[in-house]
Order: sequence, then C-alpha cells, then structure tokens
Amino acid sequence: MPFDLRSLPVDRRSASLLGKRGLTYRAVDPADRVELDAWLHADQRGFHEPRPTAAELDFERTVFGDRRLLGVYDATATEPEIPVATISGWPTGLSVPGDRSVDAWAVSSVTVAPTHRRRGIARALLEAELRAATEAGAALAVLTVTEATIYGRYGFAPAARSATVSVDRRRAHWSGPDAPGRVHLVEPASLRDLAPQLARRAVARTPGEIDRWPGLLDRVLGLVEPDAERSRRVRAIRYDDERGEPQGFLTYRVTREPDRPGVLQTNFMAAATDDAERALWRTLVEVDFIDEVRALLRSVDEPLPWLLEDRRAVTVSDVVDHLWVRVLDPVAALRARRYGAPGSLTLEIEDPLGHADGTFELEVASDGRAEVSRVEAPADAPAAAARRRRKAGTLRLGVRELGAIYLGDVRPTTLLRAGTVTETGRGVAALADRIFAASRAPQLSIWF
Ligand SMILES: CC(C)(COP(=O)(O)OP(=O)(O)OC[C@H]1O[C@@H](n2cnc3c(N)ncnc32)[C@H](O)[C@@H]1OP(=O)(O)O)[C@@H](O)C(=O)NCCC(=O)NCCS
Repeated sequence: MPFDLRSLPVDRRSASLLGKRGLTYRAVDPADRVELDAWLHADQRGFHEPRPTAAELDFERTVFGDRRLLGVYDATATEPEIPVATISGWPTGLSVPGDRSVDAWAVSSVTVAPTHRRRGIARALLEAELRAATEAGAALAVLTVTEATIYGRYGFAPAARSATVSVDRRRAHWSGPDAPGRVHLVEPASLRDLAPQLARRAVARTPGEIDRWPGLLDRVLGLVEPDAERSRRVRAIRYDDERGEPQGFLTYRVTREPDRPGVLQTNFMAAATDDAERALWRTLVEVDFIDEVRALLRSVDEPLPWLLEDRRAVTVSDVVDHLWVRVLDPVAALRARRYGAPGSLTLEIEDPLGHADGTFELEVASDGRAEVSRVEAPADAPAAAARRRRKAGTLRLGVRELGAIYLGDVRPTTLLRAGTVTETGRGVAALADRIFAASRAPQLSIWF
C-alpha cells in the first residue's frame, strides 16, 4: 500500500464536527519541529509517560516522522499550541493465515486531555481515522489497547491474544530435539542491520504480527540511549543455521538482588525458522544463576512445554486480547488469507458505521484460496446466485465478530454459543469453524 502519507486529506466530517465545538482538527507537519514537539508532548502526557530526555525526544521525532499525525487544538487553552487530543496512523502489512499479508492501517497515540474528555473527541478522531484508512486502501485497521472497553463501539474486536510465558529455571530440563545450527552471544548493536530482515521473516510466518513498526528495533536493541542503565542491561543472542546463516535473535535483560539468582526477561524475540525458535528458547532456559525466565507477549500456543521434560516448569499467564482488528473491506480482507478447509459460506455482516455492512459470499477451494464477492441487493441478484447462497448456508454476524474470527483466534461456534453469531441452518457455524481455522495461533509480540 505504498503512497505518500501527507497526501491523505484531513477528514472533513470530523473537522466540521469539532469546529462547531470551537476546536481545530488538523494534520501535524513532522518537519515543523515546534509543532511536532508539542504534539509529542501531548501524546506522552496522555499516556502518563515521563517527559522525554533529549535523546528520547530526538528518537521520537524520527519515529513519528514516519506516521500520519493529527491533533485537535483549542485556541482558548492556556497553551494553545499543545493539542488537546492526538492520534497517529500508518500503513502496514498484517500477517494472516497461510503466510500471507493484508494491507492494514495501524492506529496509535489515541489521547484526549483530561480537560476535554467525554465530549466526543475520541469518537470524532477514530471515525475519521477509519475513513482515512479506507481512503488509503486498507482492508482493515489494527490497534493495541490500554483498556478493553474503548474500541468495540468503533467495530474493533480482539483478534489475537498474547501471554506471559514463565519458566521455573530449576525445573527446566531440555528434552526436545537439538537445532542443527549454533547460538552466539552478540553485542546488541551488531544486530542493527540484520534485525529488520530477521524480524520481517519472523513476522511473515505469524498471523497477527504487523510488518511496519517505526523505531521499534532500535528501542529493543537498546540503541536509543545507549548509555542509560536500561540500555546497558540489554543482552543479545543470535542463532545461525548449520550453514552459518542468521535465522533468529533475541534480546533480554536480567534483574537481580545482590547475591541472588536473577530473573531473565526477554525484550524481543524473532525466529525466522522453527529451529531458531527452539535454539533461542533452549539457550534461555539453560542460562545459569537465574531463577526464572519470563517472556512477555508470547503465543498462547507456544511449543516450549513440549520441549521440556517437566512441562509444569512452564506457566502461561496474563493471557490477554492484544491485537484488535477492525475490518473495513470484507472482500479484500477475506480474500487475503488462506483457509483451513474448503466450503461455501454466506456472511451477512452488520456494521453500524457502514464500512463492512452487507452480504458476502465466501467460496474456499481445496487449496485454501477463497473467492469472495459482495452480494447485490436481492432484487438485482441473479436467481442462480441466490440458489447457491441458500445452499451455502448463512452466518449472521457483526463486524466485531468478523474481526474476532478473522485470524482464527476464536471459533465461530464459540460466538454462536455466546449468541453474538447466528446461523441459518444447523452446522453452518461448525463449517465456519473448519474454514476459518488457522494452522498457527495468531499472536502479536509488540505494542504499537
Ligand atoms: C480513551 C480516551 C481517548 C477517550 O477520549 P474521550 O474524548 O473522552 O472519548 P469520547 O468522549 O469520544 O467517548 C467516546 C465513547 O467512548 C467511551 N469511553 C471513553 N473513554 C472510555 C474509557 N476509558 N473506558 C470506557 N469507555 C470509554 C465514552 O463513554 C463514549 O461512549 P459512547 O460513544 O458509547 O457514548 C481518553 O480517555 C484518554 O485519552 N485516555 C488515556 C489514553 C488512552 O487510554 N488512550 C487509548 C489508547 S489505546
């Protein structure tokens, strides 16, 4: 989805709505240092972050230069140059089942100042962002959330969970197969050139991961402020395959009390192959002078317990909805992924905001590819198509339920039991279970 971010116009509907309330909604020019710094200030304040150091601020300026930034300004405020609300967005690929990717729009930096809360500003920003994403050609919008109660009303739904995986180091004895390559302890900075392509390959094989994360790798490698205590603690491991080709890396920190074994916490893990994943885990769980290995934002279906003699050495906790998906264009979104079983389904989707509203036919072939088409209004539909649809069976669902089942995180029959999805005939939702099943549990391993 390559295009100039600045070419997207500011949404007129929200600009006019906010204008009537005495507020100015406009794009921020990242080249204007004063304007950008004021926007960053509002964003950081909104998330209760400390004021940035000079090095942090320099870094943020480059990161946010790669996004589309919007702010809401109140000319009557004491500091009118600081926006009272912020939002940012950028185009990204989202990995979907079948090692495929779909054009998505990442949304972030949603803040409204406490002085201006609950006046509909967030709603105006979000609705405008969805229209901008559609205009940019995104099939869906994605975000990570601070609170699970905010985004459902805009059509977002939890679509990939993440978990904390902890290993009791004393109980962990490796019983899995060895990887044929070799691990190396390396300086994090040495990974700077290699990390992006390894991370991209790891992302490509994991549904739920996004492939554009401006600035993320410099942060996990501790390169933003290399002299800060936090950065100096970052250690790195690289895995090379049997031919000496790098296939994965991870960064971690150890914290510990004096004379006590520590807790090793991973920062970031990118494995482009199963061998790399296994080798990195093995290295972690065999580090000495450690009580616990803790990995955040891991898959809910991690292979690790199957690699240890005592699977109870592994605790999976803090399972939370992490990636939220909002389908904007059902045809493009449904066409992008591969499916678990062949079959035909009609999806009647209800979307209060209109983007995904309508009836769609999904015809999955035996190779998992789908033909997807929007069904015309009944009067215009050819009789043959109507007959096919009756035969296929219909699933009625809201746009949120579509987002929730899209990557295979939840089964349609679970939502049928919940009463949020209905079927026209017995067995339609069960067929949808088989069709939407993904061979790998979706996972998102970063915040954005
Ligand atoms: C979340 C936040 C952006 C909401 O801004 P706001 O301008 O007050 O929201 P709005 O007035 O547009 O409210 C929109 C709707 O969301 C609801 N809502 C707003 N904040 C909510 C919250 N924290 N929890 C649950 N519902 C919330 C409102 O009740 C309203 O519901 P309705 O449209 O069904 O009546 C603001 O509280 C904030 O900046 N929070 C701190 C930063 C943050 O958490 N950002 C989210 C990042 S993921």
